[in-house]
Amino acid sequence: MNVLGIDIGGSGIKGAPVDIEAGRLIEERLRIPTPQPAKPDDMAPVVSSIVEHFGWSGPVGVTFPGVVVDGVVRSAANVDHSWMGVDAAALFGGATVLNDADAAGVAEMTFGRGKGERGTVLVLTFGTGIGSALFTDGTLVPNTELGHLELHGRDAEHRASARVREEHDMSWEKWAERVEEYLKHVEMLFSPALIVIGGGASRKAEKFLPHITLDTPVVPAALENEAGIIGAALAAASGPRPGTSR
Ligand code: BGC
Repeated sequence: MNVLGIDIGGSGIKGAPVDIEAGRLIEERLRIPTPQPAKPDDMAPVVSSIVEHFGWSGPVGVTFPGVVVDGVVRSAANVDHSWMGVDAAALFGGATVLNDADAAGVAEMTFGRGKGERGTVLVLTFGTGIGSALFTDGTLVPNTELGHLELHGRDAEHRASARVREEHDMSWEKWAERVEEYLKHVEMLFSPALIVIGGGASRKAEKFLPHITLDTPVVPAALENEAGIIGAALAAASGPRPGTSR
């Protein structure tokens, strides 16, 4: 079965049809810059244009960089605040909408580094913010928002996201210290069996992971920047939306 997956990020909106049995894109993905400011009425046409580009009439899954419950946006840390309370599922023409890190996590657990892993697994994405997906024996606990854990009196993502490293032109080693501190905090709270690092930073894992020492195994994501698209497609194919009470 093929499903169109669309991944909304702080800087780009990316989409492609996905073969959900194989877990791979069946066409080259299309990327359109995220409108700034990232408001609902400016972003909805971008999502529609991706659907049209692929001539798509089947199911569509869309990720969103905030809390999403029953298709409704409940937090908007890295997009315009006018998203709060918006029914994104309705705005995107009845698509399945879920948190971006949850989508990436679902893809990693199905086809990537988390495949077959039991116990508590955390997929943490380092990009514009820090996203989290918590799994227990392969089942997602949606909308965990561990990027907003407090460290030194601030949101962890304001100290250790990939954006912070870029904006402050920080060395990989210096940034790795911050990531390690954050991961130790998460490790203390959850005692996970495995931590998978996703998001844009996972493509440069060799630059910072060697500087990180933790008791928990920490591995880079296998699907890199396709995880969100694949996870969105999987969610749309699997019926009830993650983050729903239904
Ligand atoms: C948001 C999360 C999102 C993460 C990564 C955070 O600021 O609160 O919902 O998953 O950024 O985009």
